[in-house]
Amino acid sequence: MTAEKPLTDEQIAFFQQEGYLAIDALTTPEDVAELRVIYDRIFEQRAGRDEGNQFDLAGTDEEGRKAALPQILNPAKYAPELLESVLIRNATAAAKQLLGDEAVCRFAHAIYKPPRTGAETPWHQDAAYWSPEWIHKSISIWVPLQPATPENGCMEFVPGSQRQDVVPHQSINNDPRVHGLELTPEELAKLGENIVACPLPPGGATFHGGYMLHHAGANRSDIPRRALILSAGAPGEKRNPPRRFPWMEEKKTARMERAAAAADDT
Ligand code: NI
Repeated sequence: MTAEKPLTDEQIAFFQQEGYLAIDALTTPEDVAELRVIYDRIFEQRAGRDEGNQFDLAGTDEEGRKAALPQILNPAKYAPELLESVLIRNATAAAKQLLGDEAVCRFAHAIYKPPRTGAETPWHQDAAYWSPEWIHKSISIWVPLQPATPENGCMEFVPGSQRQDVVPHQSINNDPRVHGLELTPEELAKLGENIVACPLPPGGATFHGGYMLHHAGANRSDIPRRALILSAGAPGEKRNPPRRFPWMEEKKTARMERAAAAADDT
């Protein structure tokens, strides 16, 4: 791995064919140690709660209720030192290799999966959350800060599924008060056996595009599963003909209410 070109030609070709990629090191052990301290601090503070940027991805997120899957959006807003990390430098370089020099990379979110109780992240495509007006040219870079294993919720992909458009989704448990999305039962039934799990060491990474089907299991281990997710994008194309995503139009989450209240305050 070099700082300018973290990915080999073989890895780039694999990503283009299969739609995902797993690498053992996107950053250094020293950087991982620093990232973990920052990560634990912002979750301890529940940074961004009042603005709707800290919430339960998999539950209804009432105040005082233990979150099944705590998440912080835009963590660098609450910990700007993340922007000095080796990780953001290497992730940006890798994103340029995959998407071209116009790609920009940012810390998108952090998902904390508590020991024993951390819920699964159901099967979904990231583009199901995004504006249906666009064909997106974006990738997500998922980085664990401890080993990621099938037992604690490593990433799983369906190779080749990146070639399809967004398929029908619904809110988790079909409850529009929940932020997270999942495939509809009909789509879930089509998954089949072609699933690849990607265990990783700390500071390794998986890459996937917005249309790739992916999932992470529950955390059945005794330690928290910490993951930082970066997102990188290049300009997309306007979708023609247009589509609508009813699963996003019907959402009504406590996080959206907090975000709206915070916007009213300013
Ligand atoms: Ni996702």
